[in-house]
Amino acid sequence: MSAPSLEIADLSIAFGHGRARVQAVDRASFSVAPGDAFGIIGESGSGKSTILRAVTGLLDDYEGGVLIDGQMAPRPRARAFFKTVQMVFQDPYGSLHPRRMIRATLMEPLEIYRLDRRDDRIAQVLVDVGLAPEYAYRYPHQLSGGQRQRVAVARALLLEPRILLLDEPTSALDVSVQAGVLNVLNALRRARGLTYVMVSHDLRVIAHMCSRIAVMTQGRIVEEMSVEDLRAQRAQEQYTRTLIAASRAAVTAE
Ligand SMILES: Nc1ncnc2c1ncn2[C@@H]1O[C@H](COP(=O)(O)OP(=O)(O)O)[C@@H](O)[C@H]1O
Ligand SMILES: [Mg+2]
Repeated sequence: MSAPSLEIADLSIAFGHGRARVQAVDRASFSVAPGDAFGIIGESGSGKSTILRAVTGLLDDYEGGVLIDGQMAPRPRARAFFKTVQMVFQDPYGSLHPRRMIRATLMEPLEIYRLDRRDDRIAQVLVDVGLAPEYAYRYPHQLSGGQRQRVAVARALLLEPRILLLDEPTSALDVSVQAGVLNVLNALRRARGLTYVMVSHDLRVIAHMCSRIAVMTQGRIVEEMSVEDLRAQRAQEQYTRTLIAASRAAVTAE
């Protein structure tokens, strides 16, 4: 077995103090093999996004370890870290600057990291996410929600990371356009051998995308299972069974 690409070891994160203290993540551990897609599922407020924010270093007041290729991620994250790990956020409106042309948004990481052939890279990455290169010359409001999220994926890919963290990447989209974005993500992972950690409250999305799944509630990972176990409803924990039952019709309809 090769070393895991990403490992979370006994990760704990709390917000606030005294009576206002919230234990958002409570000793969470998992590891993801290179090229795998790992899903985190759980109800709203269970701590899913907080885990991803800790991995990227957006939150660096955490206990426990975040390891990339067996190495402890530095705190604060060094610039080189983001050449390996990138994150895509839920809200494609919030994550793109409204008055900035797509080309300028995509140019920014290339400039910061001093990469060459910038226009070529932008044209290619747009094609890779299923958009024509001309989309570089549009503004966010001239794109649909699905197209905006493809741009957010393109931006994350520009530095050619090996690990993508996907926080509800299609939750803000109409069901009719979700599949297109998810299929692009699946194709990219296969073509580039990317490692994904994807967060969703939607079991169908996780079942479509991931091979292993962690089930979270109230900051804790209560169960880890394969997608085969999920589909066959082989859950150990009552919480997982309830979650599956709530969306069973949808999952078995896949
Ligand atoms: N910046 C923050 N300040 C205070 N509480 C927070 C902050 N971010 C998240 N929380 C709390 O931590 C818990 C987990 O939140 P989150 O990770 O966003 O859940 P999920 O992504 O599963 O919906 C929630 O109780 C949320 O209110
Ligand atoms: Mg969240």
